Amino acid sequence: MSDLTDRLQQLQTDALAELAAAADGDAVDALRASLFGRSGRLTQLLRGLADIDAAERPATGKLANTVRDTLEEAIRGRMAALTEAAAGSRLAGEALDMSAPGRPWRVGHLHPTLTVERDLREIFHAFGFEVFEGPEIETDAMNFEALNMPPDHPARDLWDTLYVAEPGVDPPQPAADGTILRTHTSPAQIRAMQALRPPIRVITPGRCFRYEAVDASHGFEFFQAEGLVVDHDTSLVDLKGMLEEFARALFGEATRTRFRPGYYPFTEPSVAFDVSCLVCGGSGCPACGRSGWMTILGAGMVHPSVLRAGGIDPDEFQGYAFGMGLDRITLLRHGIPDLRLLMSADLRFLEQFPAGR
Ligand code: PHE
Repeated sequence: MSDLTDRLQQLQTDALAELAAAADGDAVDALRASLFGRSGRLTQLLRGLADIDAAERPATGKLANTVRDTLEEAIRGRMAALTEAAAGSRLAGEALDMSAPGRPWRVGHLHPTLTVERDLREIFHAFGFEVFEGPEIETDAMNFEALNMPPDHPARDLWDTLYVAEPGVDPPQPAADGTILRTHTSPAQIRAMQALRPPIRVITPGRCFRYEAVDASHGFEFFQAEGLVVDHDTSLVDLKGMLEEFARALFGEATRTRFRPGYYPFTEPSVAFDVSCLVCGGSGCPACGRSGWMTILGAGMVHPSVLRAGGIDPDEFQGYAFGMGLDRITLLRHGIPDLRLLMSADLRFLEQFPAGR
């Protein structure tokens, strides 16, 4: 047996071992080049065929062909196997496990005060009111003067005001242009009258601010909703009928109501509006101070000078207005003892009002 025969067989053994060890397609390609390339190991052995004895040449040539075919076939097979394995592992990495349990999806809900506001919008929408929102940062002129409270009017003491400071002045002073945070939604009445023509029917829900020492029933930031109706021949009777219907829609048909005299500089006459206690139904309990009644809003006939400030002729039109605290109604509705809970952002509290009601 010739030396060449040995070397061919040895090459086949080595190459098959190397092929088995090739980890990826690149390694197989490199191996193919090292065997079949121009100066490849097999290529060189095949050149040696020319030098051997003519007698041995056919057998050795046959062996050489077999080695070449075996290696080519083995390389193709190994390449195919590696490609398939790579695709398989990529697919496995991308696979969706359809049997995995779903992740629970936490769904939030409206804040109970916002639910009161939405209910209010809905109820007054049915009465033909539109929503008209005013700015939270107001002017003294809108918040007080246009509402019949000129500077130094003692009624201003009823509203503890947060003033925006004059820039660059130390110690701080109220801004000369009278910029303040609105103490109630009533300035939106003026804006509504200036923007719209009678008949006007608006509610103006929104955030208000007062300089308050915070306790269980006072916040420096709270929500109100104002109602305003301006038309020919609007009367206190209309106001009463409207508010009675509203109270039954919001608190239930069994709700009883009463009006008491009140005072506001921007309405004349003015009333306070009470509903039968939402906790005890009217028999008297700690929540209503044993009176059986809860006050939910202030109201009255719009003062002629307020109509004038809104650009409306009081000889032609009358109007009524009412204003209520949404936080307070939320407390009453749910029997919540402390206003501060509403602003606490404490989920243990908020999650007790999943449907709002
Ligand atoms: N603005 C009043 C308040 O904040 C409420 C009110 C509104 C009273 C409209 C009468 C008419 O207390």
